[in-house]
Amino acid sequence: MGSIIAIDGPAGSGKSTLARSLGDVLGLHVLDTGAMYRAAALKVIYVMGKEQSGTLTEVSSDKSWSLHVAEIVKKSVIVIEDRVSLDGQDVTEEIRTDQVDGFVSFVASIPAVRKDLVSRQRQWIAMHNGGVVEGRDIGTVVCPDADLKVYLTASIEARAERRAGERATGERAKLESMIDRRDELDMNRSTGALPSLELAALAESAGRDDMIVIDSTEHDASDVLSIVLARLEKVGIHPPSTQIGYETDEI
Ligand code: DC
Repeated sequence: MGSIIAIDGPAGSGKSTLARSLGDVLGLHVLDTGAMYRAAALKVIYVMGKEQSGTLTEVSSDKSWSLHVAEIVKKSVIVIEDRVSLDGQDVTEEIRTDQVDGFVSFVASIPAVRKDLVSRQRQWIAMHNGGVVEGRDIGTVVCPDADLKVYLTASIEARAERRAGERATGERAKLESMIDRRDELDMNRSTGALPSLELAALAESAGRDDMIVIDSTEHDASDVLSIVLARLEKVGIHPPSTQIGYETDEI
C-alpha cells in the first residue's frame, strides 16, 4: 500500500485546499469523503422527495426512518474522482446547494450510513493504492494507521469568511450560524464524530510524529502546506523529486 494521509477538521478549515495541494506535490489521489456524504444526502432528497409527493419536507429520528435512509444510500452508486457522480449523473455542483448543506449532517449521523460509506472509502483507498483522504473521521475510524493524521482547524469567523468567499452568496453571519450548527452535529453524533480540538491536541501532545494539529486562522494555504510537508519528511514521506535513492540517470 502506498502512503495514506488523513486530514480531518470542521467545515471551512481548509481541508480541501490542503488535500489538493498535497495530492499534486506527492502525486497521490485525493478523496473528499464529505462529497460522498453529500451525494448520499442528495440521493435521499430525491427518493424521499418523490415519496413525500415532490419535496422532502419531513425528517425523523425514528429507527425505521433511519433504516429506510440507509437502504436508499446503499442502493446508490457514488463515484468520487475529479467530478462527483451519483447513479451515473454528474452532481458535482448539485451537492453544494443549501438544501444539501442543511440535510447532510442528519444523513451522516446514521450509523448504518456511516458503516456503508466507511467501507466504500476503504475500498477507494485500496483501489488507489493509498491517497490523501479528507473528512471528519479519517484518522480515527477510516484509517487510524494512516502515515500522517492532520487535524486542521480555524476560528469560526475565519471559516465563515472562507466559505462566504467560495460561494459568493449569503452573508457571513448566516454562514457562521450554519457552520456552528453543523459543527455541533458533526461533533456530537454516536459514531464517527469529529474529535474536539482539545482531544486532537491531547493526542498530538503525546509526541507522536504521525499526528499534527494545525490552527490555520493565522496561516495561509502555503504556510499550512509547508508545515505538513515538513512533518511528512519526519515520517519518511518525500515529494517524488526529492525521494532518497531516486536515480535520474537510470535507464
Ligand atoms: O466536508 P463537508 O462539509 O463537505 O462535509 C459534508 C458533511 O458530511 C458534514 O456535515 C460532515 C459530514 N462528513 C462526515 O460526517 N464524515 C466525513 N468523513 C466527511 C463528512
